[in-house]
Amino acid sequence: MFAVFVTLLCLMSVGHSAPLVCEQLVKPLDQLDLQHLMGKWAVIAGSLKNSDSAQHFNRTDSVTVDIQNSTYIQASRVDDTCQYRSHNFQGGNLLTLREGNFNFTGTLLNTSCSDCLVMTLDLETHNYKSVDVYFLSKRRQLEPKEVEEFTAQVECLNMPPPIVMDPTKELCPTEGSTDQRLFL
Ligand SMILES: *[C@@H]1O[C@H](CO)[C@@H](O)[C@H](O)[C@H]1NC(C)=O
Ligand SMILES: *[C@@H]1O[C@H](CO)[C@@H](O)[C@H](O)[C@H]1NC(C)=O
Ligand SMILES: *[C@@H]1O[C@H](CO)[C@@H](O)[C@H](O)[C@H]1NC(C)=O
Ligand SMILES: *[C@@H]1O[C@H](CO)[C@@H](O)[C@H](O)[C@H]1NC(C)=O
Repeated sequence: MFAVFVTLLCLMSVGHSAPLVCEQLVKPLDQLDLQHLMGKWAVIAGSLKNSDSAQHFNRTDSVTVDIQNSTYIQASRVDDTCQYRSHNFQGGNLLTLREGNFNFTGTLLNTSCSDCLVMTLDLETHNYKSVDVYFLSKRRQLEPKEVEEFTAQVECLNMPPPIVMDPTKELCPTEGSTDQRLFL
């Protein structure tokens, strides 16, 4: 957790001499509003530091994230097949979850879009570290200026340009899939 905090500080200090706008854009939200997190989100775009992960994301047609209390279901459509993952996460001012040897730490950043989430996701194993930044929305298609704000955010974070998902691709259903045992 401390390492993540330091990472964020480093990322933020990169923007120190940059215009104030970067400081605004990379500001983590102080407090997670779990109520706001609830429901079904579509991933609009992602910026992934690891190039293999980026290529995989680029081949993914759509990603749905359904958050119910402290359970989160991720449904990815790849080659017309829906792949499901379900997790419990811990709230607080960071979202944390573990999968195998991986620790994931999510931090929400400020966004001017009221039905969107911007989340940095730090992932770490004993010998590997990477970071992804995702832009999610309750809407399927956003205004160009909303995507531009996200593009500016990932630039401020020194991350690769976002891969924007095709909004015409079908989302996978998550209804009735809250039974975790289906996915474990
Ligand atoms: C994503 O895939 C398209 C072709 O399907 C390719 O043109 C583009 O360069 C890829 N982008 C990344 C970041 O891999
Ligand atoms: C979420 O939690 C509330 C209160 O603890 C409970 O009433 C509700 O059924 C839960 N919803 C789901 C989808 O688990
Ligand atoms: C978050 O962004 C909004 C709109 O872009 C801005 O008005 C607000 O001051 C920002 N909040 C913080 C804490 O930076
Ligand atoms: C993952 O988190 C757990 C609990 O916080 C910690 O004990 C473990 O060392 C972490 N693993 C890595 C690879 O950071």
